[in-house]
Amino acid sequence: MRDDLDAICVIEKQFFESPWSKEDFLSHLRKRDCGILTAIQDGKTIGYLVYQRGRDFVEIKKIAVDYLYRRCSVGRVLVKSLTQRMEGTTAKLSLTVEERNLDAQLFFQRLGYQAVAILRDSRAEQPRDSYIMEYVFSSSEPETVQMEDVRPCPIKLIVKNAS
Ligand SMILES: CC(C)(COP(=O)(O)OP(=O)(O)OC[C@H]1O[C@@H](n2cnc3c(N)ncnc32)[C@H](O)[C@@H]1OP(=O)(O)O)[C@@H](O)C(=O)NCCC(=O)NCCS
Repeated sequence: MRDDLDAICVIEKQFFESPWSKEDFLSHLRKRDCGILTAIQDGKTIGYLVYQRGRDFVEIKKIAVDYLYRRCSVGRVLVKSLTQRMEGTTAKLSLTVEERNLDAQLFFQRLGYQAVAILRDSRAEQPRDSYIMEYVFSSSEPETVQMEDVRPCPIKLIVKNAS
C-alpha cells in the first residue's frame, strides 16, 4: 500500500489545492470504517477513491483520476465498484462537491447522484459553497461492475480494496 500511496499523492497534488499527505491517507486508512479503492493499469496507480462508512450512509471522501486517464471511465469504474460493494450494507452513498467543481458534479450526476442540499460557506473572502450529492439504492437488481465497460482505449483496471 505504501508504494500505492506515493502514486496516489502525485495524483492528489494534480487537483487538490490542499492535498492530503501520505500521513493523512495513512491515518485515514487506519480507521476501521475507512477504505480506499485504487485503479491500476499495468502496475501503475491511475486513480483512487477513499470512502468512510457512516451510520446509515457511506461517504465518498475523495476520488481522483490521473489527468492523463480522465474521460476513460476510470472514475466510473471506481464508483461502480464501491456501489457494488456497498449494495445491501447501506441505504445511500454521499459526497460533498464544491459548487465550482462542475466537472465532478456532471460526473456524479451521470452516475445517478442527485444534489440534495447546499452547504453555504461562511468565510467572508472567497466563500466556497458546496453541494451534498447522494445516490440512493433502489430495490431493483444491483448494478454489476463490468470491466469491459471501460471504453476501448488501452486501459485495463484492477480495482482492489486496500483497507
Ligand atoms: C471527477 C473525476 C474523478 C471523473 O473521473 P473520470 O475517470 O475522468 O470520469 P469518467 O471517464 O469515468 O466519466 C464518466 C462520465 O461522467 C461524465 N463526466 C466525467 N468528467 C466530465 C467532465 N469533465 N465534463 C462533463 N462530464 C463529465 C461523462 O458523462 C462521462 O461519460 P462519457 O465520457 O462517456 O461522456 C475526474 O475528473 C477527476 O479526477 N477530477 C479531479 C478530482 C475531483 O474533482 N474529484 C471530485 C471531488 S468531489
